Amino acid sequence: MTDAGRHPRITIHTLSEVVGIKGYVGNFDVQIVKKARYVDEKECTACGDCAKACPVVRPDEFNMGLSSRRAIYSPFPQAVPSAYVLNPSECLGNNPVVCSKCLEACEKKCIDFHMSDQTLSVRVGTVVVATGLMPHDPRVLDEYGYTRFENVLTSLEFERLVNAGGPTQGHLLRPTDRKRPKSIGFIQCVGSRSARRGKAYCSNICCMNTVKSTLVLKEHYPDMAVKVFYIDIRAFGKGFEDLYTRSRRQGVHYVRGLPGHVEEMADGRLRVAVENNTGGTLDYYDLDMLVLATGVEPAPSTHKLQEMLGLQLTSDGFFLEAHPKLQPVDAATRGVFYAGCAESPKDIKESVTQASAAAVRAIRLMQADQIAAEAITSEIDQALCKACGKCAEVCPYNAITVDPKKKMPAQVAKAACSGCGTCAAECPFGAITMNHYTDQQIGNQVGTLLADRSAEKILAFACNWCSYAGADYAGVSRLQYPPNVRLIRTMCSGRVDEKFIWQGFAMGAPVILVSGCHIGDCHYINANQWTVKRIEKVRKKMEKRGIRSERLQLEWISAAEGVRFAEVMTRMEQLRRSVSEQEIADTIAILAKDK
Ligand code: FES
Repeated sequence: MTDAGRHPRITIHTLSEVVGIKGYVGNFDVQIVKKARYVDEKECTACGDCAKACPVVRPDEFNMGLSSRRAIYSPFPQAVPSAYVLNPSECLGNNPVVCSKCLEACEKKCIDFHMSDQTLSVRVGTVVVATGLMPHDPRVLDEYGYTRFENVLTSLEFERLVNAGGPTQGHLLRPTDRKRPKSIGFIQCVGSRSARRGKAYCSNICCMNTVKSTLVLKEHYPDMAVKVFYIDIRAFGKGFEDLYTRSRRQGVHYVRGLPGHVEEMADGRLRVAVENNTGGTLDYYDLDMLVLATGVEPAPSTHKLQEMLGLQLTSDGFFLEAHPKLQPVDAATRGVFYAGCAESPKDIKESVTQASAAAVRAIRLMQADQIAAEAITSEIDQALCKACGKCAEVCPYNAITVDPKKKMPAQVAKAACSGCGTCAAECPFGAITMNHYTDQQIGNQVGTLLADRSAEKILAFACNWCSYAGADYAGVSRLQYPPNVRLIRTMCSGRVDEKFIWQGFAMGAPVILVSGCHIGDCHYINANQWTVKRIEKVRKKMEKRGIRSERLQLEWISAAEGVRFAEVMTRMEQLRRSVSEQEIADTIAILAKDK
């Protein structure tokens, strides 16, 4: 951190919040609100005289409230910049007549109550999202008495207690009597691995953090009785199993089973009832202290940033990478990368690895004088565009700018466009051409495939990344599926314009399938959400026109689902057989009349 602070080419904006990001790779405009520090950070030497004079006492957040700080304070040792900060909502000196003791105490006159927040505008080429995490709040369920019993702590609070720079200088003291505990228990998976009691995912770091804590305890207090209550210990990293074995060898008692009940006894000790899954017994343990190994959750700023940058989230709420194996640090939006727990729960080693990779990915992009844009991008015919703004609304990459009020035709930032084709499919005026997947090209394919014996065919649109690959997989796996399936490949299911569907039915298609990646897996962020809406809209129109809406199907088939592809096609064939020649002829007549 200090090195980064001193680096001539790194600017650190502390006390700052990103409030807006616009633009695309190479040209991001970032709006930052820099909160007032009320202390001149260049002049402040962090002597601490101001804090000594300040009469306001508040819990110290860095020490998890286990110690106190003043209204003017240093956030934590080695903070960068090395300057104090004043919390205006706590300070009595907004009106200097009331207090102003810090002003008098500061010899260098660094304190300025008239400072105000600043808005900065910064232009950057790439963005690394490193928003960190938030620890699970054990107060919500309070199943282990965290809010009721003082001797129940979270793992973060424990961490501060045993830290040499912490509130007790590293001496482990029981909160109720400030005596060294003789026995201590750790409860694993608090807020993790249970959707009912927190989050369904494994928080990844708690097992090894507990193992490390037990080793620290055994090193400092060999006679302390240490117990760990767990579901299973996940020691999967390099050297982790060794640490776990060492902890057991040093006498730490691992009990397979999570406590069902915790109660406080008259002497302040805690009685823990545990169903021991190994022995099948109900055991009771009397302990001086309990530590809850709380899980981790996405940072509160995640949703805001997701909206600003047009990013995707996993079902767990963390940022979704462009590809889990081939682009594990890239976002789907070009020029945006992830580092640390923004993407998933990680330990320090994994976070450093990912941060290094993200930095190099960003540098590699910035080093080049130019970047290669996608060949498959959209183009707007300025003469046809009516500036309705629909294309900008559906673009998952914010690559289209349009101002409907000014009636200025839409503009596409080529570097930001990834070529899903949703804009072209949604444009009501036919003003957008999707290069390499033009209306004419797709329309010609529909026309050719249904040119003869159309009643015998199943017309299927398949997205390039999932469903078409699923068809390939079914083929190489030698799976049997109806031979009358006719596939049309689009980059994304979002490209399937409703006019292709009407054209298919007008040419005598008995059934039509639109298929793509599962929701959440679309390679163009959330473009397939628009596919869902469009298909629903077309189905409603079909019903209105007296055409059976069942004849239009929407299915999600991933690249690994060859079997599912074959199953869906078999179902489509059954559906095709249910459509009579008369029904097809009626549809053709209805559509010809409506034309
Ligand atoms: Fe498959 Fe969008 S890429 S549905």
